[in-house]
Amino acid sequence: MNILVIGAGGREHALVWKISQSPLADRIFAAPGNGGMAELAQCITLDSADHDAVVDFCCNNDIGLVVIGPELPLVAGLADRLGNENITAFGPSAAAARLEGSKGFTKDLCARHNIPTAAYGRFDNSAAAKAFVRQKGCPIVIKADGLAAGKGVIIAETTAQAEQAIDDILGGQFGAAGAEVVIEEFLKGEEASFFALCDGDHILPLMTAQDHKQVGDGDVGPNTGGMGAYSPAPVMTEDMVERTMDEIILPTMRAMKAEGHPFRGVFFAGLMITEKGPELIEYNVRFGDPECQVLMMRLKSDIVPALIACAEGNLDQINLDWHDMTALTVVMAARGYPGSYEKGSVIGNLDQAEQGVCIFHAGTKKNNDQILATGGRVLNVTATGPTVREAQDKAYAAVDLIDWPGGFCRRDIGWRAVEREDAAS
Ligand code: AMP
Ligand code: GLY
Repeated sequence: MNILVIGAGGREHALVWKISQSPLADRIFAAPGNGGMAELAQCITLDSADHDAVVDFCCNNDIGLVVIGPELPLVAGLADRLGNENITAFGPSAAAARLEGSKGFTKDLCARHNIPTAAYGRFDNSAAAKAFVRQKGCPIVIKADGLAAGKGVIIAETTAQAEQAIDDILGGQFGAAGAEVVIEEFLKGEEASFFALCDGDHILPLMTAQDHKQVGDGDVGPNTGGMGAYSPAPVMTEDMVERTMDEIILPTMRAMKAEGHPFRGVFFAGLMITEKGPELIEYNVRFGDPECQVLMMRLKSDIVPALIACAEGNLDQINLDWHDMTALTVVMAARGYPGSYEKGSVIGNLDQAEQGVCIFHAGTKKNNDQILATGGRVLNVTATGPTVREAQDKAYAAVDLIDWPGGFCRRDIGWRAVEREDAAS
C-alpha cells in the first residue's frame, strides 16, 4: 500500500525509516518531510491544514494509510476528515486530541475518573487565579490551557513569579491557548514517559523513555522540545509500568469511550514517579520527539499492521516484539536554539558518522548533494547498546565525526541511567 506521513521532524523520519522496512509499504510520501526522509520517501508540498488538499492527494495517489505525526493537525481534526472519507488514518479525532489540546479538559477527566494527577484549579480570571496561588503556596505550576509548543508551563518558586505567569498567560502571551490557566500542585519525583497504542477499546503497551527537556548539561537552562532521550527508562520498573497501566492508561481509555470520544492513536503519558507511585503530568496524543526515535530503534516487529489496527479497532490481534537493548538519541541543534539561530549552514561527513548508528533528520534540507540545517533541532544521532553507557558512547562517537560548526548538543544524555548503572556495578 502507499503510505503518507505528515510531519517534518526527527519523529517522522524515524517513522518513515521504520515504515520503509515493512513488506506492506509500497510508495511512501512525506509531507513536507526533510533532507533525511528524502532518502526513503518522496517529499511533497502539501499543507496539512488544508484538509481538502490532503484528501485529494490521498485519492489521487491511492494512499492506504495516513500517519499523522504532530499534534496540530490532530487537534485541527485531520483524522476526523480522513475517516469521513474512508481513508485509514493513524491518530485520534479532534475530540479525543483534547487530551493534549486542553490541559483543563484532561485535569477534569482525571478528577471525574480518579486518575492520579496533581491537585489543580482552572481559571479565566486573574484575581481568582492569584487567590488560588496564595491559598496553595509555592512552588506551584502555572500552565496555559492550550497548545503552546512546550513553552506554556512555568514552575513558580515565588508568589510574584506565579502572578507574573498568570498575567502573561491571561494577558495573551500564548494567544488563544492562554484564554485559561491551569494551576497545579508541584509534584516531586523523577519524570518518565510511557507510550501505549489504543484503538478505543484495547490497549497495546509500547515502551518507556526518558527525555531531557532543558538545553544545558545537567538539566539547566530553558526548556526545549527535547535535547535527547533514551529507552527504556530504568525508573519504570515492571511494577510501575503495571500501576501506570491500571491506574492511568486503562481508566483513561474507558473514560474517553464512556464520555463519547473513544481514543484511537498513541497515548504518550508524561509521568512523575512520586513517593505515592505514578502520577500523570500530561498527555500527548502523538509520539514524542525525540522519544519516537528511540522507540523505533527498539521495535523489532513491523509497525504498519499496528498503526492500521489502531485505526480499525483490532489492536487485540497485534503483538509487538522489542529488542531488550537500550536506545539513546542525542539531538544536535543549531547554535542559539531554543532562542534565535541561523539557518542554512552546511552539515558535513554524515556518511562517515552514520556507520553503526542511525541519524534521523529534523530541520534539514537536501540541496544538490549537500545537507543544510534549516531548523532549531536538526539531527538525532541514535545508537543502541547492551547498556546505556555503551549506547551513549556510540552516539557521541558518531556526533564527534559530524562536521557542523553551526551546531551543538548536550554531552550528558542518559546521565541518570548511567549513574544508576555505575552505582550497580
Ligand atoms: P507539561 O508540558 O505539562 O509536560 O510540563 C512541562 C514540564 O513541566 C514537565 O515535563 C515537568 O518537568 C514540569 N511540570 C509540569 N507539571 C508539573 C507538576 N505538576 N509538578 C512538577 N513539575 C511539573
Ligand atoms: N519530547 C517531548 C515531546 O515530544 O513533547
